[in-house]
Amino acid sequence: MPTTNSTSFALAASLFTLTLTTYIYKTHRRTSNLTSIRTSNANDISHIPPYSTESTQERSAPVAVFLGGTAGVGRGMAEAYAKHTNGNAHIILIGRNATNAQAIIDSFPKPTAPGAKHEFIYCDATLMAECKRTIDDLLQRLTTINYLVLSPMFVRSFHKEETSEGKEPKLVLLYYARFKFTRELMPLMQKAKEAGEDAKVYIVGGPGLGKRIDYDDLGFSKKGYSFWKVRRQFPAYLDVILQEFAARNPLITFIHAYPGPVRSALADNLEWPLFRMFFKMFFELSFPFSHTESGEYMLHAMLTTAKHPGVWSINMFGETMPEQKIVVATERERKMLWEHSVEGTVVPESASS
Ligand SMILES: NC(=O)c1ccc[n+]([C@@H]2O[C@H](COP(=O)([O-])OP(=O)(O)OC[C@H]3O[C@@H](n4cnc5c(N)ncnc54)[C@H](OP(=O)(O)O)[C@@H]3O)[C@@H](O)[C@H]2O)c1
Ligand SMILES: *[C@@H]1O[C@H](CO)[C@@H](O)[C@H](O)[C@H]1NC(C)=O
Repeated sequence: MPTTNSTSFALAASLFTLTLTTYIYKTHRRTSNLTSIRTSNANDISHIPPYSTESTQERSAPVAVFLGGTAGVGRGMAEAYAKHTNGNAHIILIGRNATNAQAIIDSFPKPTAPGAKHEFIYCDATLMAECKRTIDDLLQRLTTINYLVLSPMFVRSFHKEETSEGKEPKLVLLYYARFKFTRELMPLMQKAKEAGEDAKVYIVGGPGLGKRIDYDDLGFSKKGYSFWKVRRQFPAYLDVILQEFAARNPLITFIHAYPGPVRSALADNLEWPLFRMFFKMFFELSFPFSHTESGEYMLHAMLTTAKHPGVWSINMFGETMPEQKIVVATERERKMLWEHSVEGTVVPESASS
């Protein structure tokens, strides 16, 4: 890139960043209160089996699975959950970074209850074959799942990329992997429900942030991929698919939560150093929530706000959002998206070995 161009670009980018930073800082500065949300979570969790005093002794530890629990919002939620359960839960972190996972697990209170343990499972969720391997492993080893938290994301660039299975990795992490985990682990959630326990699927994304889905081009394969198209439509994929999941599984609780601006690892992997620097600076200066703080708010929604089965749309403070903000799909639209998602999460022939 010629020097003049990159200079004017840098200038424009700085100005843009500054404006956006100020804007976000101003609009999101509602005083958050970490202490009180923590107290409320600690109190609320003590009323959920098996922690409630009336629960039977032989009930084993609850099971919480965090795909994307090695950084950011997922990490914050896993840490908050471990803290409030005193480590007495079977907590499974899924992601790629074993070093981060181990450090997080080491920071958890040590488990003392039967069945409670903390583990990491490596899974590159951009690949359907890896998702399947991980899901099969969980189906084989677990009898129930109480909480399935899905927050994986990885941004190297905003343009279209391709995995060895021929899929766009950002789309897979944002949507398809989450769909596959939810659909295929549903039997374990049903079992939890049958045992009279919580069974909740928790998606960290952006309820209401997507506008209209183009049902003629699901997956953006016909009319082409662009970052803005994805940004405009994809959050709605999650809203709509949860409506379909809820229709199929009336006893299960489905949550789609917007974490708000969280100082996470999301900008750490941008391939262009200048861009990465801007974004990280922007995160640090304007994003009000640490992963710890966000984790407590998101946990509040999981433990307390979403109190009965159905679909819950949650804001950054863990509260319900106004219903009119969410796209409500017709039955036909839900079916179309379901079929597209089932098709899009099949392990390709070449990948299965
Ligand atoms: N942060 C925000 O301000 C913000 C705002 C609105 C919405 N969101 C949404 O919230 C979600 C979580 O974002 P975040 O800020 O928590 O991101 P983050 O800090 O970057 O964390 C992303 C997580 O995904 C995992 N991951 C990345 N690539 C993976 C792969 N190939 N396979 C399996 N796991 C993978 C990472 O673990 P490994 O590195 O171990 O793989 C990490 O645990 C995203 O959907 C994001 O769009 C975030
Ligand atoms: C894990 O994350 C740390 C930073 O959080 C990074 O330094 C390290 O290279 C990562 N490891 C892998 C295997 O990606």
